[in-house]
Amino acid sequence: MVMHSRLTSTLADGTLSDLAARHPFGRYCEDHALPSAAARDQVAVAARQFLAAPGALAIEAIDPDGRPAGVLLFRPSPWDTDHFGYPCVSVDSALIAAEEYAPRRAVAETLVTGLTDWLASHGARFTSVRVPARDLPVVHALESAGFSFIEAWAFLHRPTSGLGAAAEPLTLRPARPADRSVMHACAVGAFDTQRFHADARVDRARADALYTRWIDTSFTDPAMTTLVHEHDGKAVAFMTYFPSDLSATLGRRFAMWKMALIDPALRGQGLGTRFFEALARHHRDEGLDIIDSGVSLRNVASINLHARCGFRLTSTLLTFHRWSDARA
Ligand SMILES: CC(C)(COP(=O)(O)OP(=O)(O)OC[C@H]1O[C@@H](n2cnc3c(N)ncnc32)[C@H](O)[C@@H]1OP(=O)(O)O)[C@@H](O)C(=O)NCCC(=O)NCCS
Repeated sequence: MVMHSRLTSTLADGTLSDLAARHPFGRYCEDHALPSAAARDQVAVAARQFLAAPGALAIEAIDPDGRPAGVLLFRPSPWDTDHFGYPCVSVDSALIAAEEYAPRRAVAETLVTGLTDWLASHGARFTSVRVPARDLPVVHALESAGFSFIEAWAFLHRPTSGLGAAAEPLTLRPARPADRSVMHACAVGAFDTQRFHADARVDRARADALYTRWIDTSFTDPAMTTLVHEHDGKAVAFMTYFPSDLSATLGRRFAMWKMALIDPALRGQGLGTRFFEALARHHRDEGLDIIDSGVSLRNVASINLHARCGFRLTSTLLTFHRWSDARA
């Protein structure tokens, strides 16, 4: 009897808990400041939440004894499909029980084959996945199934405690509707280092428009907040984020940074540094303990800015894209 896989939209609760309990990688499990059992609980919670969302699916690998050997979570992406005009799929994560390279690779191959079979039978054109850089068996299984490397990605974090006195703290205010067009203007060319611009198969104008759309969404999504700093009566620095309360599993409340933007005319003059410091104070005062940020390693300016502002690396991920119509 060999390992086989099945497609499902529901998994036994124990399956996710057991696989998450052995999962060693990713933002929470690689963070040495977090208790590892709690970090793994959080992996299970996040996987359950992902599967509960509309359209979410799982490939489950079953070992020869009939036990779950791994799962791969994915879903068609309505947002990207609508924006780019062709069927797009997004892979969330892979949880695998085996730890050694060879058995882990065998499970990863089974999961990825289950995924590519589904992609072919459902006419998916574009698939993206971010996988922890340390999970080489999964990385290699993706490569052998035609996924191409696009970028390395870093999760960075800093606590909001221990802030010294600021000489002249920058003032912050919530964004107003009139800020939307100012953000659009500041965003021109600002995200050329991101993954959609890195992929030559993605239409350049569509990649640019993605950021315009994200900015628009940040003004309409009630979960998102954008904070703004004004200089000489003009909005010049923007941060979009949302709070994530993980007190139940990790005992901490996070500020999840989604988009930082400085007026192009003022970049490289220390404004980003002072803005990040002011944001840290704001998050502390609103009761958030940790700032979580994520940056493509292609964005050297942002990586350096985070390093200067006391952020530490928690884990690195690798982004892969797969096109169903690409030549091998
Ligand atoms: C990334 C960004 C926020 C930096 O803001 P900024 O006001 O220019 O940053 P600062 O002037 O405070 O510089 C802080 C540190 O960043 C680094 N940095 C800034 N610009 C840099 C550049 N062009 N190349 C390399 N490092 C750079 C430097 O290390 C600098 O510190 P140092 O001068 O002591 O070495 C700004 O360039 C920006 O808005 N970029 C476009 C949007 C973006 O990339 N957002 C982040 C990802 S969502």
